[in-house]
Amino acid sequence: MTADSIRVMIVDDTKETRSNIKKLLEFEDGIIVVGEAADGAEAVLLAQELKPDCILMDINMPGLDGISATEQIYKVIPDCMTIVISVQGEQEYLRRAMAAGARDYLIKPFSGDELISTIQWVWQLECARRSHNSAESTPLRSGRVIVVFSAKGGVGKSTIAVNLASSLVKQEQKVILVDLDLQFGDVPLMLNLPVKHSMADWYTDGCGSTGDYLLNHSSGLQVLAAPEVPEDGELITAEHISQMLNDLKPLADYIVVDTPQFFHETTLQSLEEADQIILAAVPDLSNLKNVHRCLNVLEKLNLADKVKIAANKVGSEGIKLDQFSSHLQHPIWQSLPYDPRLTAQAAVQGIPVIDLNPKAKLSRALVHASEVLAGTEIKPGKKGLPLASLLFARKG
Ligand SMILES: Nc1ncnc2c1ncn2[C@@H]1O[C@H](COP(=O)(O)OP(=O)(O)O)[C@@H](O)[C@H]1O
Ligand SMILES: [Mg+2]
Repeated sequence: MTADSIRVMIVDDTKETRSNIKKLLEFEDGIIVVGEAADGAEAVLLAQELKPDCILMDINMPGLDGISATEQIYKVIPDCMTIVISVQGEQEYLRRAMAAGARDYLIKPFSGDELISTIQWVWQLECARRSHNSAESTPLRSGRVIVVFSAKGGVGKSTIAVNLASSLVKQEQKVILVDLDLQFGDVPLMLNLPVKHSMADWYTDGCGSTGDYLLNHSSGLQVLAAPEVPEDGELITAEHISQMLNDLKPLADYIVVDTPQFFHETTLQSLEEADQIILAAVPDLSNLKNVHRCLNVLEKLNLADKVKIAANKVGSEGIKLDQFSSHLQHPIWQSLPYDPRLTAQAAVQGIPVIDLNPKAKLSRALVHASEVLAGTEIKPGKKGLPLASLLFARKG
């Protein structure tokens, strides 16, 4: 048996028929008999328990007959393919069985070849149907990667990443938040999310499909958690980051990445892959030199074009924003006010700032930043010009 074997269940009230069918299938690679039932009622129960791919169903059985059983199974497990087996002269029964959801039929007695080719044919049709359905139901996306970075700790990278991601979800975007702070990731904590699995599990399971390792937040946001044990963070390489991000891109409109405060190879890889880099910076003297250096490094790496500076904790003691901007020779993309009470409360409760107090200035600024990223912000009209005058402006 292989993992892709067709799992078959046999339903017939005659024990001898069941064992004959079993013998016919015994040596066929790719088909395995997983269960047997002697009447319709037993078949319905067993089918729900075993979820076989295919059921070979006799029609005339004591109690619940094969047609009613087919109908009941079709209602609860529509993917399960029923092939009806009956004796000559039951044409009307066969018609009714097909109407009840059977996929095909075989007239007893049948040969092993007939049986096997019918199962395989029905299975091929089912596989084609499933792949068509899944291609239609999950349109492939092409997620934009937004990396929130800074070469300093405590400046608000995680706060910004969590809130931008949460706000993008509210704008009907499919968002995955990746915690790349591989040693001290705190994203799940900030969202009160139990870490059922993390990147460490992805790694130990053989680096398969990254989408299977996402945590689901009640808002719809999905999170790829950093390893829970700091040592496990060292297992993750730049190549892994590339693989993960490329795996996730088709699953989301936005992939927001939170990072640690240093240029580790994994962080660099995420910056390379980024469509936009949000450089979190607190406008005070102790940060100025650091942000300057950081911008220089990004420039040397040819990444400066992607950088947008988010000035955070604005209003705490520090330098004025325009001075900060001119020292850096870089515009400030978004100013985020200082609100230690709100951010502390949000951290304690594991609720994003924008949800805890949507009206706070900090929340409004974070939402605005996310709208600019998504291109959905409403640009203010010219002051003093009433809407009517804009609509009916005279020409010439
Ligand atoms: N706008 C803000 N006003 C006040 N405190 C903030 C603000 N943004 C973040 N903080 C606080 O600063 C600390 C560091 O924030 P965090 O997002 O963890 O930074 P980083 O990820 O850069 O280390 C946290 O205690 C957080 O609550
Ligand atoms: Mg952080």
